[in-house]
Amino acid sequence: MSNLERLSGCFREVFIDDDNKKTAHTLSYERRGTLESFLKLLTGYSEFLERLSGEDKEGKAFNANLYEILKEKTINILLSSDGLSKNISPGGAEKIRFLFRESVFEYIFKSDLLRRFYEKPRGYPGDYMMFEMIYDQYNSSKGIGAYFDKFIIDNTLSSAVINRKEIMKKILAEFFASTERDVVNIANLGCGGCRELREFFSESRNVSKRVNCSLVDQDMEGLALSEKELSSYPNVRMRIYNQSVIQILGLTDKKDPAFFDNYDLIYSMGLIDYFLNSTLERFIEFFYNKLRPGGTLVVASCDSQYPEVYLPLGWFCDWNFYKRDAVALQNFFRKFLGAMSVEIIREENGHVFFLIVKKLTQNV
Ligand SMILES: C[S@@+](CC[C@H](N)C(=O)[O-])C[C@H]1O[C@@H](n2cnc3c(N)ncnc32)[C@H](O)[C@@H]1O
Repeated sequence: MSNLERLSGCFREVFIDDDNKKTAHTLSYERRGTLESFLKLLTGYSEFLERLSGEDKEGKAFNANLYEILKEKTINILLSSDGLSKNISPGGAEKIRFLFRESVFEYIFKSDLLRRFYEKPRGYPGDYMMFEMIYDQYNSSKGIGAYFDKFIIDNTLSSAVINRKEIMKKILAEFFASTERDVVNIANLGCGGCRELREFFSESRNVSKRVNCSLVDQDMEGLALSEKELSSYPNVRMRIYNQSVIQILGLTDKKDPAFFDNYDLIYSMGLIDYFLNSTLERFIEFFYNKLRPGGTLVVASCDSQYPEVYLPLGWFCDWNFYKRDAVALQNFFRKFLGAMSVEIIREENGHVFFLIVKKLTQNV
């Protein structure tokens, strides 16, 4: 059965589901035209991938021109799929998603990156290894997989993740340059592999202060990597919390574990993007209260202003985020912390921003 025949079989179902159980014949020509042109586009895309995959089997080297064509066609199909699915019923949108995945999976999952993003072998999206691969700009997949590795790494969302790490290193540098304390307490929430801390300590040889680091992550594998890498710095002491932040916040049935107080700096990157506002509210209050007077809370968030950059991860891998508006989140923080000054720092692609809150000293 050809791709088009296979898709046409489902095509009718999408119609029926879409227009309140009307048959394909009673649908408006306009609606039918949209679906037909989408299916033609999807079939053309899948045939293009088949041809590219065939060339790779013959051992041809990575072709930059073909990559540009793949990039354009991939962006086009993602925008079309998303546009169409927004204009039909949820059931119809689900079928479009299924057809889409069916038509492309044998090609896109030749990319080790996309396969890990989709399979989520640690049981949740966004594990530490996925981020190690993004930081390393992974490009080792074979055949057509190399084209999709590059497509993901070229996405400005990937460079935004790298920019986020670099901004955090600058915040750490400013923090160490300005603190007068000889012993500092830092917490990293959803720390993963602590790449920013590892790079910061390796690049800043003059940090002589004793640094007590509380590393919090639900996943022991990321924590183990962080512990191993950071243990080479004699001035760094680690407290490992292999726990869900949700549990630390006291939002589960399990007893709230004691979480240390008096932090100078608490930060988190890539964590609140998976939290509803109700969890975030508790998160802000709880960790703000864990700061010593003069301490700083730093939270990075995905920005909602360019939703299209999230399409590859959503459509290929079912990896979705809560994206937020920086000013709205700034107001949200203010609401839960009183009339605090909350600074916004934006990463240059506009996909990630940081909120920075300083806790007032007692005598102000
Ligand atoms: C997107 S990664 C970011 C890792 C690291 N902060 C970075 O920027 O490279 C998110 C990390 O948060 C952890 N995580 C997700 N939800 C969590 C939760 N509820 N409690 C604790 N850790 C969580 C994951 O295990 C993962 O290591």
